Amino acid sequence: MLDKIKETAEFIKGKASGEMPRTAVILGTGLGSLVDFMTEKQYIPYSEIPNFPVSTVEGHSGNLIFGVLGGKRIIAMQGRFHYYEGYDMKQVTFPVRVFKALGVDTLFVSNAAGGMNKEFKVGDVMVITDHINLFPENPLRGKNYNELGPRFPAMTEPYSHELIAKADKIAEVQGIRLMHGVYVGTPGPTFETPAEYEYFRIIGGDAVGMSTVPEVIVARHGDMRVFGVSVITDLGGKDITDVPSHEEVQLAAQKAQPTVVKLITEMVSSL
Ligand code: HPA
Repeated sequence: MLDKIKETAEFIKGKASGEMPRTAVILGTGLGSLVDFMTEKQYIPYSEIPNFPVSTVEGHSGNLIFGVLGGKRIIAMQGRFHYYEGYDMKQVTFPVRVFKALGVDTLFVSNAAGGMNKEFKVGDVMVITDHINLFPENPLRGKNYNELGPRFPAMTEPYSHELIAKADKIAEVQGIRLMHGVYVGTPGPTFETPAEYEYFRIIGGDAVGMSTVPEVIVARHGDMRVFGVSVITDLGGKDITDVPSHEEVQLAAQKAQPTVVKLITEMVSSL
C-alpha cells in the first residue's frame, strides 16, 4: 500500500504544475459546479492515474482538478468512489491517502443526504458536526502503517471545530441558512425504509448518506483537518411517504449548489 501511494503521488506531482495545494475538496453528488469557479485548471482523468479506481455512477465524472479557488490552490476530486459501487474500503479511501502524500492538510467533503431531523427542509445545507459509521467495515481494518497514522486513532473531533465556527461566521455574513447535524454513513445502495430513517434519527442522526465516513476516517487517521457539508435532498421518517430517487437527489443538490459553492469558496479563501 505504501508503495502504491508513493507511486501515485509521484505521478501526480509530475503532471501537476505549480505549487502543491494544501487543501483538497471532494465534490459530492450534484456539487460538481464548484469546478466552474476554479481558475488555472488542470485536469487529470482518474483513468490516467496509476492505482486509481474509475468512477462509474451517473452524475459523477472522474477527474482530479488542480486549480485556484478563492485565491487558494486546491485539488478538487470530481467524482468519488462509493462502497456501493463494489469498491473495497481501501479503494474508496485511496485518494485521501494520496492527498496526504501530496502534502494536503485540510480536506473538504460534500455529499447529498436524506434528512431525518424534523427541522430540516429539502435544499438545506447541513454542516457535519459528527458522524456515525454504519458501514460494515472500517477502512483502517487490517495492517496499520505507522507512517500513515496510529493503530487506534481518536475520533473525538472528526470535523474541525475551528472550521465549523468559520462556516457559521460566513453563513451569518452571507445570510445562508446553515444547519448543523450528525451524518449517518450507510453502505447503500438502497435508500432507507421509513423505519430505518426513524431508527437513524433515534440513535442521534440528522442526515443519512452513502459516502463520506470512510474518507473522513482515513483523513483523520492521517491527522488532516476535515470540514463536511451535506445537502439535504430528501426527507425520511415514519410519516413520510415521498419516494426518493437518484434524479430527485441530483436535482435538489443542484438547486443548493450555489449556496454550497459560496460557502466552500469563502472557507477556502479564509484558510
Ligand atoms: N438516504 C441515503 N442516501 C442518500 C439519501 C437518503 O435518503 N439522499 C441522498 N443520499
